[in-house]
Amino acid sequence: MSDLQRFSVAMPEELLIQFDNLVARRGLAKNRSEVIRDLVRDALVDEEWDDPDQEIVGTLTIVFTHHAPDLQDKLDHIQHEHHDKIISAMHVHLDAHNCLEVIVLRGRSADIRGITEAILGVKGVKHGRLTATTTGRFM
Ligand code: NI
Repeated sequence: MSDLQRFSVAMPEELLIQFDNLVARRGLAKNRSEVIRDLVRDALVDEEWDDPDQEIVGTLTIVFTHHAPDLQDKLDHIQHEHHDKIISAMHVHLDAHNCLEVIVLRGRSADIRGITEAILGVKGVKHGRLTATTTGRFM
């Protein structure tokens, strides 16, 4: 971490009480400064994702039925089409009927969103969620 700069923050007492409760819930390893840094990074990641040309990293988690005809082939086809933006994928056989995949994507925000929509649009995908994270430059 680079040199730390100090600044003071003013906020209403009630908001500070709620903030301290949040700090407490995050556990002993976190203090007010750490949690403020986390919240700032969250905001910066959100902003990064709003910019269609920004390079971003995310994970797409999907659950789908094992029984739908051609579903796995369609999902594989989309992933092969975008192999340059898909870093990794993990397949879990959840039970006799359901599969889960976690797909790690890296690329332009607009491209990652497009791939996500294509995957979620495949018939038989029951649920999916894209989680935004960062390339790690917000330290
Ligand atoms: Ni499976």
